[in-house]
Amino acid sequence: MLDTLFHPVVLNDTLTLNNRIIMAPLTRCMADDNLVPTQAMVDYYARRADTGLIVSEAILIRADGQGYPHTPGLFTPEQINGWHKVTDAVHNKGGKIFAQLWHTGRVAHPFFFNGEYVLAPSAIALEGTLPRMRELTYTVPKPATKTEIEQLIADFSQAAANAIDAGFDGVEIHGANGYLIDQFLHFSTNERDDEFGGTPENMARFPLAVIDTISQRIGRDRTGLRLSPGGYFNIEGDSRDRAVFDYLLPEVEKRCLAYLHVGIFDDSMNFEYLDGSASHYMRTHYKGTLIGVGCYTPQTGSDAIEAGKFDLLAIGRPLIANPDYVNKVQSGQALTPYDDTMLVQLI
Ligand code: FNR
Repeated sequence: MLDTLFHPVVLNDTLTLNNRIIMAPLTRCMADDNLVPTQAMVDYYARRADTGLIVSEAILIRADGQGYPHTPGLFTPEQINGWHKVTDAVHNKGGKIFAQLWHTGRVAHPFFFNGEYVLAPSAIALEGTLPRMRELTYTVPKPATKTEIEQLIADFSQAAANAIDAGFDGVEIHGANGYLIDQFLHFSTNERDDEFGGTPENMARFPLAVIDTISQRIGRDRTGLRLSPGGYFNIEGDSRDRAVFDYLLPEVEKRCLAYLHVGIFDDSMNFEYLDGSASHYMRTHYKGTLIGVGCYTPQTGSDAIEAGKFDLLAIGRPLIANPDYVNKVQSGQALTPYDDTMLVQLI
């Protein structure tokens, strides 16, 4: 019954995918010192070109969005050229690839860009130290001014245009996992009392402005979005967040984007204030194409699609362990189990 996964699917006038398996965005911290993709990254993505769509690892829209070592960027000519090698290699093998556009907001650290501060909605620090760099503690962010917010919107737009120049088929706006866009959408990180905080409409203003500027610049058919209505990573959920997403999702639906993608690590996780899982909540409030993700096997993912829980299945860790995931699943071969030690190398 895995057939469901392997039929081509028409997303819109611009995009038809060869199958319903999406490569989930996976940060690998393997770019060079100038945050340019390497040849090893070209080969890594090319090996996965038989997925219906690759969503790239999160890519920085500008230098001050960086919160982890060696995460790639899309804001210098060198980085755009580097990504062009990746997109060419994927296209040569018949695949499609979107760039996930990223600014980490308060999860950034001035260490990476030799700066004085990081920008976020409000001056609320993330607790703890940086993964992979435990000697660095998160800083108290500077609340972005209106002018700085306008510049961030412009820089998201420019990064989307750069992605198209680099040969990507489209972009996925990273609005999930507690990073900048998500920080505007949750009360635990947004205490603003101006037009960007305090009410659902205000808290959704910056995310919707990013969506609008990008979809006008490169086309809504080429624009996807990832959201985490439940706070679970880099952020704490608050029952008041529910009203923000109740407002946001129908607004996103009106924009007719290529798709909406659930941002979650394990979709069996339930959120009291969402009345269930993140995917269940998003399906209920959004009628467009939905990508589910989070600890699915080919069988449980295919069952979920058949039950109408979502339309496309994103696979993360199993695709780190199995570059030939699609072929293995289609031909009934056993999958290599994922292990965290596999993160040190691009296979
Ligand atoms: C992730 N995930 C993630 N999500 C995202 O939106 N952008 C990213 O860059 C990353 N990076 C990343 C790195 C690593 C090493 C892991 C394990 C996860 C989350 C990922 O896209 C996915 O939602 C989860 O991995 C759950 O799917 P699986 O792995 O259970 O299929």
